[in-house]
Amino acid sequence: MTQRPRLSVIGTGYLGATHAVCMVELGYEVIGLDVDQAKIEALRAGRIPFFEPGLPELLAKHIDSGRLRFTTDYAEVAEFADVHFVCVGTPQQKGQYAADLTYVESAFAALAKHLTRKVLVVGKSTVPAGTAVRMAELLTELAPNMGVELAWNPEFLREGFAVEDTLRPDRLVFGVHSEWAEQTIRSAFAPVIEAGTPVIVTDFATAELVKVAANSFLATKISFINAMAEVCEATGADVTQLADAIGHDVRIGRKFLNAGLGFGGGCLPKDIRAFIARAGELGVDQAVSFLRDVDEINLRRRARTVELGLDLNDGSYRGTQVAVLGAAFKPNSDDVRDSPALDVAAAIGRRGADVRLYDPEANANARRLHPELTYADSLDEAVSGADLVMLLTEWQEFRSMDPEIIGNKVRKRNVVDGRNVLDPVEWRGAGWIYRSLGRP
Ligand code: UGA
Repeated sequence: MTQRPRLSVIGTGYLGATHAVCMVELGYEVIGLDVDQAKIEALRAGRIPFFEPGLPELLAKHIDSGRLRFTTDYAEVAEFADVHFVCVGTPQQKGQYAADLTYVESAFAALAKHLTRKVLVVGKSTVPAGTAVRMAELLTELAPNMGVELAWNPEFLREGFAVEDTLRPDRLVFGVHSEWAEQTIRSAFAPVIEAGTPVIVTDFATAELVKVAANSFLATKISFINAMAEVCEATGADVTQLADAIGHDVRIGRKFLNAGLGFGGGCLPKDIRAFIARAGELGVDQAVSFLRDVDEINLRRRARTVELGLDLNDGSYRGTQVAVLGAAFKPNSDDVRDSPALDVAAAIGRRGADVRLYDPEANANARRLHPELTYADSLDEAVSGADLVMLLTEWQEFRSMDPEIIGNKVRKRNVVDGRNVLDPVEWRGAGWIYRSLGRP
């Protein structure tokens, strides 16, 4: 193995595109593959097909360097790379909790069929425990007698911080079964390791589980504080102060204790459900049965937000105009997968509200899923003439709204703060009826 192995990245979605571009930034030669021709053409033209701060600039920087190219051809990838990263998606199966492994299986199979020499294949996709062993068998079966090996390397990047998280991760986890595999994957992350990043070298099952355990913990932390928000609502307590107070205990920590509309996105919801499904298959369903509560608490927050708006609209959405601020599952993202904001917008639309939705980046993605809603091109347009304003994704543009200026545009000064980011004293002082989740 050379000091600097040549890398491939299979699947150029969120994770793969970021990984490919960042590995070039770290000094590697990289080829990215996707079966979606349109995605590959966009990347070749220097366009990132989703919103991620900093990534378009890095792609532009490296597209002309000759160290980054994109293809749809597995033969080209197999010829080029010494280490192959599989970064395809594992969405929730329709109508079930379990993860859909079709893309993982077909990526491994397609790559294996084209391999001609000993390489390391690294799984990065989030998968149920036990998948890596099956993929190792698949590699041996479809690329026999070459000594091809597998490693599992879960990814912890956050959307909106994907570049930073990839260049400077807080840890690296390598699931490997041989010294050669460990040394090879270390060589593929040499600059990151030299920068002092902690490395955990472990077996396949642990590497697979680290990822789902981490996301389950984060989801549980959010649902814990949202459960406290429910209790706060019944007692008149303030969940934001409660979070600040318990968060000062370093054993608890303040991060991921923001109560509100709860978690969404392409990871947390589907990962906890896939974990529940896999634990059931393994006969340890009781061990993670609390994750069902985590999921339910989370979904209840959406229903509660719809109710809060209903109260402010005197019991009916029919005939009212509602400004919904935010469609993305979180700020600094255009991702609307399982987005709490979009879910609530659609629910109040079904109840007869004339929804005017505005998101700084996610309008186009939201419109594809919910063409029945009306989309505004600006905050001003969304709030003009509204009977109710609902802040559902905490973009900076919404956090810094001036209650007086917005107040002069709406028909009624009613606001639901679904993310607990507005100052109730200031808004009430400007004559607004202010409601939020877990705050009096
Ligand atoms: C999550 C994890 O944080 C990453 O470490 C992981 O790599 C990634 O999933 C993945 O599996 O690929 P991400 O989905 O980008 O990252 O989003 P988060 O920042 O974790 O936020 C998830 C959701 O929780 C958002 O809807 C956010 O609004 C919500 N949230 C977060 C809260 O409601 N309260 C909080 O205090 C924090």
